[in-house]
Amino acid sequence: MEPQTTENTEVASRKADVLAPRIEWEYVPSRESTDIVEIADRYDLFIGGEFRKPKSGKYFPTVDPATEETLAEVAEAGPDDVDAAVAAARAAFEDGWGRMPGSERAKYIFRIARMIQERSRELAVLETLDGGKPIKESRDVDLPQVAANFFYYAGWADKLEYAFPGFRPEPLGVAGQVIPWNFPLLMLAWKVAPALATGNTVVLKPAETTPLTALVFAEITAEAGLPPGVFNVVTGAGETGAAVVGHPDVDKVAFTGSTEVGKLIQSQVAGTRKRLTLELGGKAAHVIFDDAPIDQAIEGVVNGIFFNQGHVCCAGSRLFVQENIHDLFVDKLKARLATLRVGDPLDKNTDVGAINSRQQLEKIRQLVEAGVEEGAEIYQPQCELPDRGYWFVPTLFTGVSQSHRIAQEEIFGPVLSIMSFRTPAEAVEKANNTPYGLSAGVWTSKGSRILWMADRMKAGVVWANTYNKFDPASPFGGYKESGFGREGGRHGLLNYVKHAGGRP
Ligand code: NAI
Ligand code: MG
Repeated sequence: MEPQTTENTEVASRKADVLAPRIEWEYVPSRESTDIVEIADRYDLFIGGEFRKPKSGKYFPTVDPATEETLAEVAEAGPDDVDAAVAAARAAFEDGWGRMPGSERAKYIFRIARMIQERSRELAVLETLDGGKPIKESRDVDLPQVAANFFYYAGWADKLEYAFPGFRPEPLGVAGQVIPWNFPLLMLAWKVAPALATGNTVVLKPAETTPLTALVFAEITAEAGLPPGVFNVVTGAGETGAAVVGHPDVDKVAFTGSTEVGKLIQSQVAGTRKRLTLELGGKAAHVIFDDAPIDQAIEGVVNGIFFNQGHVCCAGSRLFVQENIHDLFVDKLKARLATLRVGDPLDKNTDVGAINSRQQLEKIRQLVEAGVEEGAEIYQPQCELPDRGYWFVPTLFTGVSQSHRIAQEEIFGPVLSIMSFRTPAEAVEKANNTPYGLSAGVWTSKGSRILWMADRMKAGVVWANTYNKFDPASPFGGYKESGFGREGGRHGLLNYVKHAGGRP
């Protein structure tokens, strides 16, 4: 990163080329083939190492949000099915998974990690088909991260005593894990890998709009020879999730999703022995100082809010730009927005894919309407959208005030609310003016200012001169209404072991 010391000349010299004529590139379609994926008409529940028909007798469709076509029917687990899954997980725990030497458990997890790599193209295409995210993201971000998380936690399985010096970590038992639709396999990896590494067994409830990759993952665990019942999948919607969370024989609940459901879950487990971690919503502040390398910051902001259509809990959805570069920055951002390619998620050139579901599209529309009604100024580039499917044009709002709904509520879509500030203290105050506290970003060429800001921003993760960077060794999690507990790194193991002294 080139250091910039003369901010004013920097600003002046760049002003001239903001609106310079752009070269318009035509991209030839470059569609990833779906031949590698075989989607069955129907998927059953994965319980005790095999696919079982649901006792509920019910199935629901999962669609491709880019075409609105049904991809498959998926079993809807009722309370009896959840009960069977928890019983299978309990039996597998007691039968030996919980007592198996870590070096043995590691072999299974390493094998799973390698098999994910071997099947990564298939899994990436399926993730994109079922959820709408661009193939270049599922292929280059999600899948490599998924495998990396399994490799990372496999490595810890026989070293747990070094992770927690001074006591012998013991598993909790059965973990009930409920995950969202924005990173289906990655959220599975964040939760399943540390649970297995520490000797717990798992009942996983994927999101109802994106259940397919978890079912292929179940197949992988069986092929890897994972003992039956160590990993189970119960598909279904909120009711199935609530049955997992509420099951009396579940020892640990891990949830990623909306703050609203997180609160429900917290009250549901209150007063029980269950351990709980919650990774909830966010409304991250992305702060740009006038000494920032502006063009790099533009890329960081674009990545921060348009990556995965903005369906990202840590999305940089509130942009704070120092007042003296505000107009320049907004002009540059508008110019950059016009070059984003929105459309077919399977096209390797696509930057912004389909919105995950009709409901989510509706929610984004409502909040964007509220932004316009409350008086913010909207900007959307010219954009041709496919006829079918769920789409939303990348959107900027300027003239946003702190009290606007678009500055307060999680939109979870490709919509950025832009505000300004004058001093670092004002930036901190505005950044922290939110019920959330998951992540934040700072762009400045001054190292001391990065540290000063990071100390004061109430966020679990603060990125400096970059955004949305992940590593399995690095913990992730929130403050305030963004939840509690950390996933990733050594911290991620802590959620799945009894605390020192032997009590859960
Ligand atoms: P959600 O929180 O309802 O869904 C997440 C998971 O929880 C899904 O697997 C769902 O089936 C399950 N679930 C729903 N109700 C449950 C209950 N009572 N008990 C147990 N599990 C339950 O999120 P939804 O409705 O899909 O999206 C609504 C909003 O939530 C989004 O617009 C977005 O703002 C936010 N969201 C945030 C996420 C994040 O990672 N921060 C992820 C997903 C949604
Ligand atoms: Mg789907």
